[in-house]
Amino acid sequence: LMLAWKKRAFPRANCQLTGLFAWHRFSVVNRDQVKARIAELTDQLNYHNYRYYILDDPKITDAEYDRLFDELCALEKQFTDLRQPDSPTQRVGAPPSDKFESVRHSLPMLSLNKATKPEELADFDRRIGELLAGDPEPIEYVTEEKLDGLAVELVYRDSLFILGSTRGDGTTGENITPNLKTVRTIPLRLQKCNAVMLEVRGEIIIKKSDFARLNRQREEAGEEPYANPRNTAAGSVRQLDSQVTASRPLIFYAYGIGNVEGATLKTQWEVLQFLRDIGFLITPQAKLVADRKEVRQRYDYFNDRRAALDYDIDGLVVKVNSLRQQQKLGELSRSPRWAIAMKFPPQQEETIVEDIVVQVGRTGILTPVAHLKPVRVGGVEVKRASLHNYDEIIRKDIRIGDRVIVQRAGDVIPQVVKSFKEKRSSAEKQFAMPARCPVCGSPVSKLETEAYHRCLNLACPAQVAERISHFAGKSGVDIDGLGPKLIEQLLEQKLIADFADLYYLKRDDIASLDRMAEQSADNLIIALERSKDTDLPHLLVACGIPNVGEHVASLLADEVGSLEKIAAASETELSAIVGIGPVVAQSIRDFFANEENQQVIKKLKSVWSKLPEHQISVGPLPLKGKTFVLTGGLERYSRNQAKKILQKLGAKVSSLVTKKTDYVIAGSDPGSKYEKAVKLDITILLEDDFLKLIGED
Ligand code: IVH
Repeated sequence: LMLAWKKRAFPRANCQLTGLFAWHRFSVVNRDQVKARIAELTDQLNYHNYRYYILDDPKITDAEYDRLFDELCALEKQFTDLRQPDSPTQRVGAPPSDKFESVRHSLPMLSLNKATKPEELADFDRRIGELLAGDPEPIEYVTEEKLDGLAVELVYRDSLFILGSTRGDGTTGENITPNLKTVRTIPLRLQKCNAVMLEVRGEIIIKKSDFARLNRQREEAGEEPYANPRNTAAGSVRQLDSQVTASRPLIFYAYGIGNVEGATLKTQWEVLQFLRDIGFLITPQAKLVADRKEVRQRYDYFNDRRAALDYDIDGLVVKVNSLRQQQKLGELSRSPRWAIAMKFPPQQEETIVEDIVVQVGRTGILTPVAHLKPVRVGGVEVKRASLHNYDEIIRKDIRIGDRVIVQRAGDVIPQVVKSFKEKRSSAEKQFAMPARCPVCGSPVSKLETEAYHRCLNLACPAQVAERISHFAGKSGVDIDGLGPKLIEQLLEQKLIADFADLYYLKRDDIASLDRMAEQSADNLIIALERSKDTDLPHLLVACGIPNVGEHVASLLADEVGSLEKIAAASETELSAIVGIGPVVAQSIRDFFANEENQQVIKKLKSVWSKLPEHQISVGPLPLKGKTFVLTGGLERYSRNQAKKILQKLGAKVSSLVTKKTDYVIAGSDPGSKYEKAVKLDITILLEDDFLKLIGED
């Protein structure tokens, strides 16, 4: 089966014209006959795909499958207009597109509240009990693995797969239909499904064994192995070229539905059975359980076995079974009240610190990194762990040669938890911070007030490379395909010296680099062009101004409106913006006062036909001078959103209730701030009052 998967997962993009049945080699072909044959082949191939990928029980040999596939390809090539929308030939991928369109989910794709300690299950269960007090039905739960992949939504109309999107921010995702069509566990046409419209939700993952095979192939081909299955799965479905997606062993597991028309489902358990019946794989070990004791057993069961599973899971999802009860419970700030994700404790392993090596970051900070004897932690090989700074090494007393415990925090970034002093021989060596930058040799400095050592040389090659990498990163202008290796090569060849130079690169400059395929050079040129569509907040973050992260960047964009104006603003003007203090204002000023930075921005301006502009938030400031405190959860907005709205109207939002507080906005489950407000006799506003205040009742 393994060999067979390989074969079918990487189908030929070109169909063979040979081996057709004699009847369509006739020179005069009856179109109706061809049409009927195409429909028949499409159905047969889809059925055999289902037997193979979903039921794991093929009914025909690969050779027979290939014959049918080739025949269909040939017919479609000749009669392009007769191709069926669910044709399996589409699974090999469509030509590259240069951008994903946005898709608004008809129902938001919610996130799950997390319980990090198993004891929190009791609170969840108690709350459900209280909220459903008096409900005629008993409360049951469905437990499912929390699959560690990428959430997607699939829309089916009259059983045909018409639209697939990423979860995105929960409200709007990206249209990745051609890519999802290449995923064999996504039916192109549903079986025995009466629903007129159906939205299926689930997770795209890569199995651990397939991932290991993929990495072996990459290593054999001299390519850098991928970091982990989750990121690889996520990266694969967001490819602009769906032929790349088609070559990755992606699997879709369904766990829920969005909108549905023409089918009645009463429970989550029924939803899962329904999804299975119409052709999906569902969360593999879902179980209907009666009470929290059984939920706890499932949690322990998976916690003990997760390393042995062939797919990564990072928790157990617990869902109230009855959809009617779910509806009654509703949701609170983007998470349903009827479900919870019980996270597993981080996974720990013992290994040895073979060396401690200092890395230089974008801002010159020197970070000591432990090079570890490779060890598998929760299915992922860990070779490095950041030790953050010198003080941390001293505090944890970590020495080169020590036996240590490493863990994956949030199951992603490896950390060194502790060292075993009792296991020391006398060969371990204490680490000392270098007096000079390991990359450029400039003296290293450390301020009393900071935990970090820094290289102060702005021209330090490591800093330059990191600044460009940051500029090109996801939080910056997002240049797809421009990784650290490529940046290093471009710098070495003196093709660039700063991030503005990227836009002066010629296709041939890039194509001439070692191990650079022509196609990748073209893609990079496209990605560079696309990155110019960024918005002002992303451009500001990309510039790498110290102390300017996403939040400050969006404040600056909202209040000032353009890079030129921000660059020209005085420290006083900047610190007058609510949310920007004197330290941040000064670092913005310093950045734009620096001659070299001015040059880079000037170069950028002349090569981008126009820099992004931002709509300045204008309007009256009716809440100017008023101080608000938020407590508890609001239905309509997250707390951060509410805060921004208030600030836009001129209010100050604080996290402490004092005598100076004018209003406390109390959502559900308010905390001690509420009691304090009562004690201090401060006006308390409920969500409705708040909505009225902002003109949204
Ligand atoms: S249910 C409101 N079920 O977890 C219900 N989600 O934090 C939300 N996930 O984005 C989805 N396995 O990517 C559900 N069995 C499962 C899941 C699951 C993984 C992910 C999903 C979602 C995130 C929610």
